[in-house]
Amino acid sequence: MIPEQLRKSLEARVAHAFSAREAAVDVMKDLQFHYGWLTDEAVGEAAEILGLSRLQVEELATFYEMIYRRPVGNKMIHICDSISCWNAGYEKILDHLKARLGVEVGGTTADGQFTLVPCCCMGRCGDGPLISIGSTIYDHLTPELVDQALEIERLSGTAAPDHKGQA
Ligand code: FES
Repeated sequence: MIPEQLRKSLEARVAHAFSAREAAVDVMKDLQFHYGWLTDEAVGEAAEILGLSRLQVEELATFYEMIYRRPVGNKMIHICDSISCWNAGYEKILDHLKARLGVEVGGTTADGQFTLVPCCCMGRCGDGPLISIGSTIYDHLTPELVDQALEIERLSGTAAPDHKGQA
């Protein structure tokens, strides 16, 4: 259950939105921030706050790739699998990431630090292959640069999960 203060702030956001759907992503993001991922309980709370059905919230949640309906690691690694990055060497980078992290796509590392997921074009098509880790984009990647990026992100710590609040 969310704290009353969070509920009130979300209700205020909905009240100021043109429609409940306009506020839906913000509500889901904040609930995701609270729980670490969008739990079933959070879906129910979002539905209540937005005045939508659980199914409607579920549909919205599964549409947005940065809303997570299952537990994820502290840091999300998004790898662009769209055409330009694909041509620039996406597969080699993906294979390297999977080997380094010991996970398949969609998996979370054993230490809970990273979850690896694909994503669509990030609008940096001339800079591929690229990934984002949290809010940082690492571009023109080689396997060596991937290792550096992972090291930077590991050293930057175990702060609150960086996926919280992103969408
Ligand atoms: S194709 Fe990867 S950023 Fe556009």
